Amino acid sequence: MHELTARVDIVHVIGRYVQLKKAGINHKGLCPFHGEKSPSFIVSPSRQTYHCFGCGVHGNAIGFLMEHSGLGFVDAIRDLAQEVGLSVPEDKESSHDKALAAAERQRQVTLTEVLAKAGDHYRKSLRDSPRAVEYLKARGLSGEIAARFGLGYALGTWRALASAFVSYDDPLLDESGLVISSGESTDQNGDTSQRKRYDRFRDRIMFPIRSVQGDVIGFGGRVLDKGEPKYLNSPETPVFSKGSELYGLYEARTALRRKNFALVVEGYMDVVSLAQHGFSNAVATLGTACTAEHLQKLFRFTDHVVFSFDGDTAGRRAARRALEAALPHAQDHRNIKFLFLAPEHDPDSYIREFGSDGFEHSLEQALPLSRYLLNSAQDGCDLDTAEGRARLLVNGKPLWNALPDGVLKRQMMGEFAVLSKLALAELSDLWIKDVTKPPMRDGAAKAVPRRPRLARHGATNLLDRALWLLIYQAEVWGQLDAASHDLLVEQAAPYGELFAEIERELMEQGSQAPAAILTALRRLPTTPAGQSTLERIAALHAPDTAIDLRNELHVVIERLRLDAVEEELKLMFESGDLSPDAQQRGAELMRLRASLKAGLAMAASSIK
Ligand code: UTP
Ligand code: MN
Repeated sequence: MHELTARVDIVHVIGRYVQLKKAGINHKGLCPFHGEKSPSFIVSPSRQTYHCFGCGVHGNAIGFLMEHSGLGFVDAIRDLAQEVGLSVPEDKESSHDKALAAAERQRQVTLTEVLAKAGDHYRKSLRDSPRAVEYLKARGLSGEIAARFGLGYALGTWRALASAFVSYDDPLLDESGLVISSGESTDQNGDTSQRKRYDRFRDRIMFPIRSVQGDVIGFGGRVLDKGEPKYLNSPETPVFSKGSELYGLYEARTALRRKNFALVVEGYMDVVSLAQHGFSNAVATLGTACTAEHLQKLFRFTDHVVFSFDGDTAGRRAARRALEAALPHAQDHRNIKFLFLAPEHDPDSYIREFGSDGFEHSLEQALPLSRYLLNSAQDGCDLDTAEGRARLLVNGKPLWNALPDGVLKRQMMGEFAVLSKLALAELSDLWIKDVTKPPMRDGAAKAVPRRPRLARHGATNLLDRALWLLIYQAEVWGQLDAASHDLLVEQAAPYGELFAEIERELMEQGSQAPAAILTALRRLPTTPAGQSTLERIAALHAPDTAIDLRNELHVVIERLRLDAVEEELKLMFESGDLSPDAQQRGAELMRLRASLKAGLAMAASSIK
């Protein structure tokens, strides 16, 4: 199995089914999983994975064969083995794989059991906490709805979960995200051991997040009064990934079929409150942008989706992101709409004020995707001028391009032709011919006026500095090795998300202009921390032309590595762990530290 994955080349495997072209370090082609005309399907030889920026599918060679050819796991392996001339010893190999798969499944089952047990505990605590019950009542929720969603309450104490589990030291409590192990607690009164381990969720209303199968995979917790953050979510775990889970999908599944449409909203409370008022077909993203993966999951249940985000600016940004995620899914049999509420409302406050009838009525006014697409493209364009009409087409083209082939796409071209006062044939010439041009516009970055000096020392924090370098010189991204790439996109919020967005922008739009990348980053409805990071960086000047940007980025990444090594060493020293494993790892880290330091010293002498 190991030998097999080492010998198979994913580019070759996928190349049998999809025509791939080299694009930087990766290969690119038309996605075989959704209809598209311009390629957003990327195969990475260094990571041996594929990913479609249009519809969100991703995986390795085995996954591709399973998805694409409908093969089972064992058959996919056999197919791959045949390709590289390895024979699969029938029984031994497949039973080994079965054992592996079974072990992984068992681990996940164990985690969801731990989470379910915590959920039971939170529900019991809710019954015993009049203050929490009062809070839910004041928000208009009945006991029946609270029970349907399994709402609970986490006590305000530091180790409330200790009474729910046999051992509070069980590593599964860490792995499931229920308990935090760290020395950074602000609990001044507790003794040292108490400060090291404590409940993640304290004094919060608990919303269990369930998978489509109904397993508890995580939680969202809301403060009762004022406090930061307002909602705390489970971290990413082997069973929970925010980018693909929708809150309320399990609870909504029958209503989705019955009503034959889904409401996609932003908040936990919106979902629960809509259900309270008879709209049990609502789901929410979990504080993240709506992704193609979310939609793929949802479209398994219904072909009709209405996005209803908050009326404020953040909500509008989220709607714009949802539009982009929805475009590749907008086949002719689908019906996708956008409901914009007044700025002071979210679906919860709206339905509480105007009732089910009021909400039903506003649903009738929802904008079809085609309208919203045209409105977005026209945003800021004065159509009375030739410049404004040209701009409309610049804005509109990537949106139009993302639509799957079909009648809708053709009609939309007609609408753009009318608005831009071009003949349909002219526009079609312009847009369809253009599609075949290479997507990377070279020299775009040079068009930005460079201002002298200063900026070199502008971004001080390492991650800021990496972002800044990449925004202004995005082609460096394509030259990163796989380990550096992963190091960046796996950074904690907000950085990982921002790096991933730069990649997405490069792949999807082929644009390397700093302004375009900044615009794309600003559309991400990230947290306030993300916004302020971005504004801090946007305020800096472009890097000095004299800097060797590649080397500069290399140095930044090596320093990030060094920081991680130092951090791990520090934790090891603090833990006082003297086991043979720990000693071996310690020696490894010391060697790594020395070689990183030596490399950095060399690089520093070559900068200037
Ligand atoms: P909102 O701030 O719009 O809250 O966040 P809300 O849903 O209207 O909540 P109520 O009505 O005040 O209770 C929308 C969603 O963004 C995520 C949560 O998923 C929330 O439901 N969020 C918000 C967080 O993850 N963390 C936060 O601190 C705030
Ligand atoms: Mn709200």
